Amino acid sequence: MQWDNIEKNVEGGIATVTINRPKALNALNYDTLKEMLACFIEIGESRDVHVVIITGSGEKAFVAGADISFMEKLDPLSARQFGKLGHEVLNTIENLPQPVIAAINGFALGGGCEMALACDMRLASDRAKFGQPEVNLGVIPGFGGTQRLPRLVGKGHANELVFSGKIIDADEAGRIGLVNRVVPHEQLLEECLILARMISAKSPVAVRLCKESVNNGVEMDLDRACEYEVDLFSLCFAASDQKEGMKAFLEKRAPQFKGE
Ligand code: CAA
Repeated sequence: MQWDNIEKNVEGGIATVTINRPKALNALNYDTLKEMLACFIEIGESRDVHVVIITGSGEKAFVAGADISFMEKLDPLSARQFGKLGHEVLNTIENLPQPVIAAINGFALGGGCEMALACDMRLASDRAKFGQPEVNLGVIPGFGGTQRLPRLVGKGHANELVFSGKIIDADEAGRIGLVNRVVPHEQLLEECLILARMISAKSPVAVRLCKESVNNGVEMDLDRACEYEVDLFSLCFAASDQKEGMKAFLEKRAPQFKGE
């Protein structure tokens, strides 16, 4: 499908989705969010995509936030609708069956930082900058910043960012655990592809169930979460991937996973 505000490219089981509004630093307006929703639903239904990478187009930004010129005119009801759409898109990303890597190539502010938080892993360029600057605009984060950020980096670091609206560099984001690691700008996409290829060579059944176990289990109490893990572990034994993976190990050869 052709999109106006995003691009999707699938190669070797890896889908790269690029937010493509460089003139507005890839800010998320209503149309962009609608396209993202349709695109990620399509990816979630695909058995040919094993890993997803999300990035921003241009040299400056991953995503510089929700689109301020779009939001400026909203009333409370349309703002609620917009916020709900943002959450729907980010929840869809978070709940995709495939692992998602954020390739953070520049500004990740407001809704852009929140989009990165909805991904499973975050790799940042050494030029990336992070922040929740909504308080500068008289609003609070609206796409999950007050919820996913404290869950990832702890309340203290999250509160400092959300209350002050300050912008931090990639090294600081690495120090507080906001990103997995920081890499030289020119190597960002290649580093993401290396990780994506590593994951896509594994059993797709196992990788999808790993994601389900982490995402659903992390909010449960430990006893229930461990029981849930055992259920998913046992479910793996219904798939040919488990038979192939264990047989290949014992035969001292590389496994040929079918993802079923
Ligand atoms: N929405 C709409 N347009 C934006 C934008 C945004 N979030 N961020 C940047 N742009 C536009 C600018 O208006 C500018 O457009 P024009 O060329 O037409 O004037 C263009 O992108 C380039 O931006 P700058 O000239 O400002 O570039 P800069 O290098 O001087 O500054 C920046 C970069 C620090 C990121 C600055 O653009 C900025 O502060 N942007 C806003 C960041 C922000 O506040 N994000 C949070 C939005 S609120 C939100 O996201 C709520 C939520 O949680 C859902």
